[in-house]
Amino acid sequence: MKALIPAAGHGTRFLPASKTIPKEMLPVSARPAIQLIVEEALDAGADEVVIVTSPDKPSIRRHFEADAEWRARCASRPEADAELAHLEEIGRRIRWAVQAEQRGLGHAVLQAADILRGEKEPVLVLLGDALVSGEAPSAAMAAISRATGGASVVGLEEVPAEKVSRYGIVKGERVEMPGVGGEVLKLSDLVEKPRLEEAPSRLAIAGRYLLDPMVFDLLATQRPGYGGEIQLTDAIRRLLAQRPVYGYRYPGRRHDIGNPAGYLETLQAFAASAARP
Ligand code: G1P
Repeated sequence: MKALIPAAGHGTRFLPASKTIPKEMLPVSARPAIQLIVEEALDAGADEVVIVTSPDKPSIRRHFEADAEWRARCASRPEADAELAHLEEIGRRIRWAVQAEQRGLGHAVLQAADILRGEKEPVLVLLGDALVSGEAPSAAMAAISRATGGASVVGLEEVPAEKVSRYGIVKGERVEMPGVGGEVLKLSDLVEKPRLEEAPSRLAIAGRYLLDPMVFDLLATQRPGYGGEIQLTDAIRRLLAQRPVYGYRYPGRRHDIGNPAGYLETLQAFAASAARP
């Protein structure tokens, strides 16, 4: 399985810090958020991770690059050296794509098409500003996809009515899937950022996807949608017309590190789980 992390957004909700520190590089303990997301993908069974970044965020790529000077500096500090060796190991599994213009999440995902279009298996997509505490959803989503003969799966969470218009919202019927920790739905529709009156449910797309590679062809012809941007949700809606798409309401908690309040909440959640015996 291949994974893809779109991490090219400007992070304007986190100014002024994001002027020089990409939101994905904010630390959660000693590891930056994007490293935790890469680790989630590898733990779920991905053997390669494509990160889509923007030319004005070079520190993301630098973080994952092997660095002989740092290794030499830490040669007599086993713990620090082990962290660097681990990072180097992860870095070997990463490939890079660039989104030069900010034209939406779907457009960011499309920038990895040259690398991933020929894939046979669904591609795991993990948003670079979404961390999940508790059980990571990616591994369960891969299991659901296998149990359904390679179908696409989107991670879901329930949101309050007043937040519905900030998310991609789905419509679906619950299905039984033995051995899966959360609720599974077979989807019949998805809408990007609907008004509350038009929302088909309160179940929101929550930062994790496992997508049939056909989505890259659909994105290539995707017209701009909400906000004049190329929306991933719109391409998944077209995918749904041809192939089954499931939703997984995962038990872990999603945190948005793209704004200061969300980031502080992320730190609290991860500190609490680290303190648990
Ligand atoms: C994106 C997606 C949206 C999804 C959300 C959270 O929106 O377009 O469908 O619900 O992430 O995963 P954004 O937060 O980039 O506006």
